[in-house]
Amino acid sequence: MSAEPILEGVGVGKEFRGLRAVDAVSFSIPRGSICGLIGPNGAGKSTLFNLITGYYQPTYGSIHFMGERLEGLSTVEIARRGIGRAFQIAKPFASLSVRENVRIGALFGRDGPRDVERTVEEALSLMGLGMLAERAAGELTVGNLRKLEVARAVAARPLLLLADEPCAGLNPAETEEMLACLRRVRTAGTTVWLVEHDMRAVMSISERVFVIDAGEKIAEGTPAEIAADPRVIAAYLGADYVLTEHTRSQLAEQ
Ligand SMILES: Nc1ncnc2c1ncn2[C@@H]1O[C@H](COP(=O)(O)OP(=O)(O)O)[C@@H](O)[C@H]1O
Ligand SMILES: [Mg+2]
Repeated sequence: MSAEPILEGVGVGKEFRGLRAVDAVSFSIPRGSICGLIGPNGAGKSTLFNLITGYYQPTYGSIHFMGERLEGLSTVEIARRGIGRAFQIAKPFASLSVRENVRIGALFGRDGPRDVERTVEEALSLMGLGMLAERAAGELTVGNLRKLEVARAVAARPLLLLADEPCAGLNPAETEEMLACLRRVRTAGTTVWLVEHDMRAVMSISERVFVIDAGEKIAEGTPAEIAADPRVIAAYLGADYVLTEHTRSQLAEQ
């Protein structure tokens, strides 16, 4: 991957009353890629996404999107520039249909001409929700709720989608399906950066992986490089998603 970066952060940090939730993290996301962000619970992954999307302002550091500085901009201004966010905890309008929920996403988002109905149908189809469009969101399975959350974000026509644990709570088949959807989203022109706990999943989809632990970036590289990195293995020791020998040897073969 040698594409120009769509998003770049330099020394980005966030302190909450003395707690360094994100500590001088730098990153560069190549345009057109799918990248991964991993790290133990509480590592600062969601906070980093909150800094990029303007929910929080960085305590220090700079973030550039398409060459423009993001600090100081509001969440709405950042969404209008083309950064979308699928939240770790989805909160759809339970009594509205899937299509109506996605339509709400399409009403906001990136600046530019838009055809709301077409955007909604495209987002539903990319996320494999076409057949469920008339269902009430409150009736969906966990897997389909996750898809709806991503579809809502995709309907805002982002150039960069930050997906926070889109596979959380999904079984292996649903996880595979979600990854296939995210690949389609990327093929349709959106760069994707996702937080994911399942090592196999993140390694199989990402061109580049960033690892943070206790707020600090401890590694960055291709999936094979990350899998072989002693600091990464140490950070994950004792966690239930520790790399198995099997996964590691599979990655080494790639
Ligand atoms: N608004 C906040 N106020 C205080 N502490 C916070 C806030 N948001 C996150 N944190 C803390 O920052 C750290 C990183 O949290 P988070 O980014 O949610 O981790 P992750 O998404 O990697 O699990 C945690 O210690 C968390 O308690
Ligand atoms: Mg999180």
